[in-house]
Amino acid sequence: MERTLAIIKPDAVARRLVGKIIGRIEEAGFRIRAMRRVNLSKGDAEGFYAVHRERPFFASLTDFMSSGPAIVMVLEAPDGIKKWRALMGATDPAVADAGTLRKDFAESIERNATHGSDAPDTAAYEIGYFFAGIDLT
Ligand code: CMP
Repeated sequence: MERTLAIIKPDAVARRLVGKIIGRIEEAGFRIRAMRRVNLSKGDAEGFYAVHRERPFFASLTDFMSSGPAIVMVLEAPDGIKKWRALMGATDPAVADAGTLRKDFAESIERNATHGSDAPDTAAYEIGYFFAGIDLT
């Protein structure tokens, strides 16, 4: 079993897509090991996306991520990191495969509905950013 950090981003929460996205997560066979609604400050978003701080979209991304509530979750499945990224689809919904969450729900490359960790080390950092060990027993 492998855990990954998933976020339903503020664009999708504002459009009341939480239930649909969680339904797709469960249909795909993930276990939701932890889940919480958060209102990120600009600083919280900057800390979470620190690896992207030199990117031209960093200021806009962190404004967006702190613009409204988001849902953070720890998902678990065999090969969970890759499996969640496959369910989300490509970062840019314009090139995401049919049947993926971003194809179906994302508005743009930035307002792209969901986030997922990209590797085991980032999953460990991102899970620890939102959840304590006691939340994951
Ligand atoms: P996510 O998977 O959360 O990882 C980083 C985020 O930055 C990404 O989803 C998008 O929301 C955003 N992002 C990535 N590339 C771009 C881009 N070229 N322009 C704007 N936002 C981007």
